[in-house]
Amino acid sequence: MDYLHGFDSKEQDRLIHQAQFLEPYVYTGVDFKKVNRLLEVGCGVGAQSKILLKRFPKIQITGVDFSSAQLHVAAQYLKRPISDGRVHLLQQDAQRLDLVYKKYDAAFLCWFLEHVPEPLKVLKQVRKHLKPGAQIVLTEVFNQALFMEPYSPNYLKYWFEFNELQWTMKGHPFIGAQLGHLLKEAGFKSINVEFRPLHFDSRDPKQRAEFIEFFFQILLSAEPKLRDKNKVSEDMVRQMYKEVEIAKKAKDSVFFYSFARATAIR
Ligand SMILES: C[S@@+](CC[C@H](N)C(=O)[O-])C[C@H]1O[C@@H](n2cnc3c(N)ncnc32)[C@H](O)[C@@H]1O
Repeated sequence: MDYLHGFDSKEQDRLIHQAQFLEPYVYTGVDFKKVNRLLEVGCGVGAQSKILLKRFPKIQITGVDFSSAQLHVAAQYLKRPISDGRVHLLQQDAQRLDLVYKKYDAAFLCWFLEHVPEPLKVLKQVRKHLKPGAQIVLTEVFNQALFMEPYSPNYLKYWFEFNELQWTMKGHPFIGAQLGHLLKEAGFKSINVEFRPLHFDSRDPKQRAEFIEFFFQILLSAEPKLRDKNKVSEDMVRQMYKEVEIAKKAKDSVFFYSFARATAIR
């Protein structure tokens, strides 16, 4: 069991911060008001589960993750809703889900399929567990879509190595562009895929700096593995820190990234 970002406590805190920071963007258009039983696959430390429970007071979540370290943190983070019977956590590999078929009213997968060697297998598995007519909501990366001005060569080289490492670990850093195809192959209907731009420039320097810093932390989350494998040098990382500081302060800097949102019906 290996995973690009690792399972240390810094990374687990980062996931909670990430979910809160991106909540306004990720949850636009997510409507589980009529959902009772929600299947959340790749729930990690429960960062999205907490937001889902707050936004949709009626839902009960079955959260699945293959990592006992993540689930251990999730069990603490979601202690109250677990004791209220609103959350059940299960340790399973999403490629071989073992739950009750046709039980769930909806499924939610966020920043997850990018890490799975066989995303189609996961979607087929999830489909089997959904009731007919149930909705699946996917939020995934499309790492081709990163742009930062001023030109930052070390940042870009590091980003290449980050994606390359994920690729060699059998992940999919560009999976956002494949969601339509994968959902179709898995047998879903009424498929919709859209790209959500995160575009910040001098119109809002504070938000721009926050996004540059937020995204930088994502890059750094893979540093231990990249350093381990000699994919990035200490000097490259040092230069990248400088470039990021410049971008955060430069008058005309630009940050752009776009993630993918797909919905479909079983
Ligand atoms: C980037 S985290 C996202 C967690 C959560 N969805 C969120 O947005 O905070 C990806 C999670 O997928 C889990 N994961 C990776 N491959 C898995 C697999 N094959 N089956 C189940 N969980 C897996 C990891 O343990 C990790 O917790």
